[in-house]
Amino acid sequence: MADLNEHTVTDAAVAQMANTPDPRLREIMESLTRHLHAFAREVKLTPTEWLAGIDFLTRVGQACTPYRQEFILLSDTLGLSRLVNVMDDRENRVGEATETSLLGPFYRENSPRFEYGQSIATRAKGPEMIMFGKVVDEAGNGVPNAIVEVWQTDAEGAYDLQANDPEVMDMRGQYRTDAEGRYAIRTLIPLGYSIPMDGPVGELVRKQQRHGFRPAHIHMLIGAEGYRELVTALYLGNDPNIDSDTVFGVSESLVVNLATGLNESPDPSVPSVRYDFQIAKRAAHDKSGRVGADPSKIAAE
Ligand code: BEZ
Ligand code: FE
Repeated sequence: MADLNEHTVTDAAVAQMANTPDPRLREIMESLTRHLHAFAREVKLTPTEWLAGIDFLTRVGQACTPYRQEFILLSDTLGLSRLVNVMDDRENRVGEATETSLLGPFYRENSPRFEYGQSIATRAKGPEMIMFGKVVDEAGNGVPNAIVEVWQTDAEGAYDLQANDPEVMDMRGQYRTDAEGRYAIRTLIPLGYSIPMDGPVGELVRKQQRHGFRPAHIHMLIGAEGYRELVTALYLGNDPNIDSDTVFGVSESLVVNLATGLNESPDPSVPSVRYDFQIAKRAAHDKSGRVGADPSKIAAE
């Protein structure tokens, strides 16, 4: 038996995994092991640092609840969620379909249903805005009866899930497009907000002297029969952190600016933005592409 050294231990670990029947699991675990070992060698990881890392990951797990996913937050702040999203878009996004953005940890299924132009602000108060436009297909034709789900912070930068009673839903809802594919959402102007900073991920972000903010945004999940589900968000261009999102969710094509006096707005006196979302037919192999949260966990509780 040969003693393992800092190089041969990697091959030995990978060799023990060689019989994994699932080829994708084998590929992922082999690669993860090689990269982890290479990382430890590169930074010359000490036992104390290794233990600190284990302690950190343990605390990340302990911070998770049915309403809080600290591991996803860690992935988001490392840019990993964005990376997975971008790679998924490269594989599955078709033509000029609207770009995707992070689902984030605050999505909830079964949000209330609203009619064209109704407000999702059932409790929260603040300055109003309107978002309107069409859901269109690859040829630019309106997609009727598409579901447009929307969720956002209130005018103080808090999601309903962060309020005293997280069972109460506010600032979120579902709309259906009309026969021409039109939608209109009345809401409050969202405020940029800090990611949850009271856990281990926030502690790390502070140690890195990052501000921890996301620019103001409105999340959208758009679905229609036979089309690829679109998870995206629109970002307000005047937010001071528009270029330094802590979770790297902003794309140029998703930045919008509010204006009053837009003729087609259901209420031109209210600051409005017109945005058409283009969705593409779902490919046979395609999965939902909901990167950034596990909504089934929240829905199950
Ligand atoms: C959000 O947009 O809701 C979000 C995304 C990632 C981390 C924290 C919040
Ligand atoms: Fe958000």
